[in-house]
Amino acid sequence: MKKILLAAAVSAAFGISGVQAAEDITVDVAVIGAGGAGLSAAVEAANLGAKVVVVEKMAMAGGNTIRAAGGLNAPCTSLQAAKGVQDSLEIAYYDTMKGGHWKNDPELVRTLVAGAGPSVEWLLALGGDLRDVGLLAGASKARAHRPTGGALVGPEVVRTLYTAAKDRKIDMRMNTEATKILTDDGKVTGIQVKSKKDGTYTIHAKAVVNAAGGFGANNELVSKYVPRLKGFATTNHPGAQGEGIVLSEKIGAQLVDMTEIQTHPTVVPKVGEMITEAVRGNGAVLINKDGSRFYNELNTRDAVSAAILKQKDGVAYLFFDSDMQKSLKATNNYIKQSYCLKGETLDELAGKMGVPADKLKASLEAWKQGKAAGKDAFGRADMPRNLDQAPFYAIMVTPAVHHTMGGVKIDPKTQVYNTKGQIIPGYFAAGEITGGVHGGNRLGGNAQADIVTFGRIAGQQAYIYSRQAK
Ligand code: FAD
Ligand code: FUM
Repeated sequence: MKKILLAAAVSAAFGISGVQAAEDITVDVAVIGAGGAGLSAAVEAANLGAKVVVVEKMAMAGGNTIRAAGGLNAPCTSLQAAKGVQDSLEIAYYDTMKGGHWKNDPELVRTLVAGAGPSVEWLLALGGDLRDVGLLAGASKARAHRPTGGALVGPEVVRTLYTAAKDRKIDMRMNTEATKILTDDGKVTGIQVKSKKDGTYTIHAKAVVNAAGGFGANNELVSKYVPRLKGFATTNHPGAQGEGIVLSEKIGAQLVDMTEIQTHPTVVPKVGEMITEAVRGNGAVLINKDGSRFYNELNTRDAVSAAILKQKDGVAYLFFDSDMQKSLKATNNYIKQSYCLKGETLDELAGKMGVPADKLKASLEAWKQGKAAGKDAFGRADMPRNLDQAPFYAIMVTPAVHHTMGGVKIDPKTQVYNTKGQIIPGYFAAGEITGGVHGGNRLGGNAQADIVTFGRIAGQQAYIYSRQAK
């Protein structure tokens, strides 16, 4: 019910576009998908003077982007500096490559880390609020940017980009699905679309940016590539079906890393609601059904997911105190939604969790002693809080499909390659539809950086191409 109300509110805020004619149209740049990558591309192309249309198959803009929570990773921003965080492009590059098991495309990662800081500044200049900076798993520095007080990043990124697109009078067509990429003599010349209201028509475009996102909500496709994920729940929006990848394949695009699919470790069982990694980043610990800590909570999410699945019933509790709760606005929603068990004392909470109170207390005492000694039993480097301030909270969690790292092959200019290793002229892609940026495992916060950075590049390159195209 809450989700329906949220969808209605967001739909009202981000609008269903007005009356559309079923006539063919001609533009400089056609963008598929009104998520973060597509809207960034559209705004940037329009800034340069291109006539742009955005088509979105769902009733509202946002895709997976609007669901994003923990932050947008960017090294060396003014906001990091103001907090005294000493970061560098090299450290961010190393964290990303290590987190991705060194399977990432190094040139794409260099582009990501160099472009992320300017992307934050770009969003700030468009009126976005990304003033809180926190730590997410797998990062050796606090570089996750999110709204003041640790609120959810995705709604703010979509609000900022959607408003910028409207201000630029960009033609955005909701309920309009791209059904075919059109080509002529190997060059992309536009798209065929099917609108719920107006039927099928053609958008002639000098350049096309495909930003149709990933396929995390398509369990058939997910389990085709990774059979062990069959039947897993997902954190993704229902539209994350992967058609953009299929349409690209039909015109010969090369796909990379398709078997690299990530689960997020902390998702509420049966409900599918993701509990942001920022909760662990700000201090929460994982407790199993025996009342014990069992792993470094800030290890990468593939490793944390595997550790949770090894516990009794494949679940764990995220435990935090009121000190941590007050540090992160995102948690207000978890309390409102009744995902949290709450206890005024550890005994009361242990009873609600169904774990032995003495074990829970011993685990938290060991945490506190480890923090005081600067040495955690599980090797966790950042232990920001004592976790001893009542009331106490626990949320039951288990892993769910979260991010599809594979997709169409691009270069740092977002040009799409075919299976022969040649550029497909006039065709650009950005965001979760692409492969190579995140390698074997994406770090939390790096997708938001990816979509804005590569989305902007795609908009610029599509504009340049459109001006040269005959
Ligand atoms: P999307 O935002 O999914 O947009 C793609 C759009 O294309 C969708 O609206 C879709 O409906 C549309 N589309 C698809 N096919 C067609 C078609 N044929 N025609 C027209 N339209 C089409 N990453 C972070 O870095 N930090 C976070 O805190 C974070 N939190 C997350 C939390 C959740 C719950 C989820 C699910 C993801 C999170 N991520 C986070 C990941 C990140 O949000 C996504 O990877 C990213 O937003 C994808 O952006 P995108 O623009 O590529 O795709
Ligand atoms: O846990 C989270 O906030 C998710 C982050 C991400 O997917 O990058």
